Amino acid sequence: MTQDTPSVGLYVHWPFCLSKCPYCDFNSHVRERIDQKRFAAALRQELATEAARLGRRPLRSIFFGGGTPSLMDPQTTADIIADARRLFDADPNIEITLEANPTSVESANLAAFAHAGVNRVSLGVQSLNPDALRFLGREHSARQAIDALEIARRLFGRISFDLIYARPGQTLEAWTAELDTALALVSDHLSLYQLTIEPGTKFEGQYRQGLFALPDEDDAARLYEETAAVAARHGLEAYEVSNYARPDAQSAHNLGYWRYQDYIGIGPGAHGRVTRDGDLWATRRHRAPEPWAERVEQTGDGTMQSDALSTQDKAREMLLMGLRLTEGVSEAAFAGRTGMTLQAALDPTIFRAAIEEEYLIHDHDEHGPRLRATTSGRLRLEALLGALVL
Ligand SMILES: C[S@@+](CC[C@H](N)C(=O)[O-])C[C@H]1O[C@@H](n2cnc3c(N)ncnc32)[C@H](O)[C@@H]1O
Ligand code: SF4
Repeated sequence: MTQDTPSVGLYVHWPFCLSKCPYCDFNSHVRERIDQKRFAAALRQELATEAARLGRRPLRSIFFGGGTPSLMDPQTTADIIADARRLFDADPNIEITLEANPTSVESANLAAFAHAGVNRVSLGVQSLNPDALRFLGREHSARQAIDALEIARRLFGRISFDLIYARPGQTLEAWTAELDTALALVSDHLSLYQLTIEPGTKFEGQYRQGLFALPDEDDAARLYEETAAVAARHGLEAYEVSNYARPDAQSAHNLGYWRYQDYIGIGPGAHGRVTRDGDLWATRRHRAPEPWAERVEQTGDGTMQSDALSTQDKAREMLLMGLRLTEGVSEAAFAGRTGMTLQAALDPTIFRAAIEEEYLIHDHDEHGPRLRATTSGRLRLEALLGALVL
């Protein structure tokens, strides 16, 4: 890889779901009928346009996210993978992930996705507790989630699953048992999200009306700490705020985001960060699926916004992403990517205070100096960086 041809990851957004989960504010939409052919053609067109703009670059990873990409026609997945391999320099063993929901229909399709070239699956299990699944408005049962994990284990070399914790009334004992059951089935990679109440979701209204309460901060912190202990018993290390993996099973695609490397985002609402003409560009596609497709059909891509990032923008973004990782941010990588030294980017008084308060650690490893956040620093990263970055 040279300076002129930075490698890229490819994110593909499929914006449709069977139903809208009451907690979710992702760009996902429910439609009675989906014009699969139209959306497949638009995704392929947007990829071709982007490849023509960027030139042939090394391709690190492909990630089909959503929405629910397991509702995509597997042939579309195969076509996009083939296009990406043709348009970019892809490693033959490139990581190709698909997010899948564990309904029985989708599990039945997993073999077709494996055949299409997907080699890593990320299952939206969310919980193995029937009451919690009902509360979360999921379309699948705990049994179906377990079946999906077992089917995935037969088909894919690499599996991750998502769980949501800090749910109403969740006890430490019940959480430990649930996590143990799931990790006994699959212990490669786990993404764990604390239930948050997002603006505009069904849960926001219900929560405001007092229809349910969430665990307080201390209880949520205890559940989080217990997670690391259970994961460690199953051989998984916390390598990012919400992600645990065996040492050889970290997500290459997501590491690309956290290490602030280039990625292309195609599909409705997808974001990208791409180096072009000496600048780092932040790109965003039109969010609504049909207007996005129309735009792609008319102009070749559905870009809504494309901005060259300033040095300060890059510094803030790189720290916000990189300090989520246990490995932190290397000073050399920071200077290479942003064009400024770490010292020049930070307010010296706040930096000293953050070290003294044990939110940040400034030390060396074999590659030189690096900045890392402690667990308590990681949990208040946005507020910390808001004050810290000049
Ligand atoms: C793009 S979404 C889901 C992919 C897939 N459609 C599914 O539902 O499994 C990625 C993950 O974000 C998490 N998530 C979404 N909204 C959340 C919220 N408000 N609180 C906690 N986790 C959330 C869920 O665990 C979900 O699996
Ligand atoms: S959590 Fe997944 S299935 Fe539910 S609405 Fe969000 S993207 Fe769709």
